[in-house]
Amino acid sequence: MSLRIALILGSTRPGRRGDQIAAWALEAARAHGGAEYELIDLADHNLGNLDEPGNPNLQQYQHDHTRTWGALVDSFDGYVFLVPEYNHSYPGALKNALDYVYREWNDKAAGIISYGGWVSGARAAEALRLVLAELQVATVRAQPTISTHPSFHTGTFVPQEGLDTAVGGMLDQVIAWSGALRGVREARARTAAAA
Ligand SMILES: Cc1cc2nc3c(=O)[nH]c(=O)nc-3n(C[C@H](O)[C@H](O)[C@H](O)COP(=O)(O)O)c2cc1C
Repeated sequence: MSLRIALILGSTRPGRRGDQIAAWALEAARAHGGAEYELIDLADHNLGNLDEPGNPNLQQYQHDHTRTWGALVDSFDGYVFLVPEYNHSYPGALKNALDYVYREWNDKAAGIISYGGWVSGARAAEALRLVLAELQVATVRAQPTISTHPSFHTGTFVPQEGLDTAVGGMLDQVIAWSGALRGVREARARTAAAA
């Protein structure tokens, strides 16, 4: 079965630049190949602030929106986070979406495409890596960055030279690790079934 990789857009605000970047990245990923790619737009998932009483680790979900979100997260082998920098970190809506479930993220691979004004979202990406480590998501080294000043100087997203190559290199790493970690998850499931 082919690998399934989700591009997760971490910005939800009206007028966001992220939707243009996401549309471009989805097209670039599909042109690159090696996996099936889908876009997850957090704005489409009315999660609200985390409202589950139990630790997500226990998966004792009380709300349909959590079960739906968990099933969606679980259905992918890997992720590419499209993350803007907000106050030297990543958006709260993305942290909330990450916190909602736990095991569904475990033993997956991820890449990050960051964007922002001054350092192209690099600080947001570093903050995100720390949280993904706790979720047992392995983040690859390659990290395409987008400086919004040149890329949006006309108001419309114009990818800077070399971005598609950088994205392709990141995807190759995500594909390799997603495939390897699928084996880890399968071994974990076999061990659990035998116990
Ligand atoms: C609440 C907020 C905080 C921001 N903080 C930073 C920041 O700390 N550093 C930076 O380089 N850009 C910062 N920016 C600029 C954003 O990175 C830039 O506007 C980007 O396009 C936001 O992504 P979005 O349009 O998809 O929401 C901030 C923007 C917002 C809305």
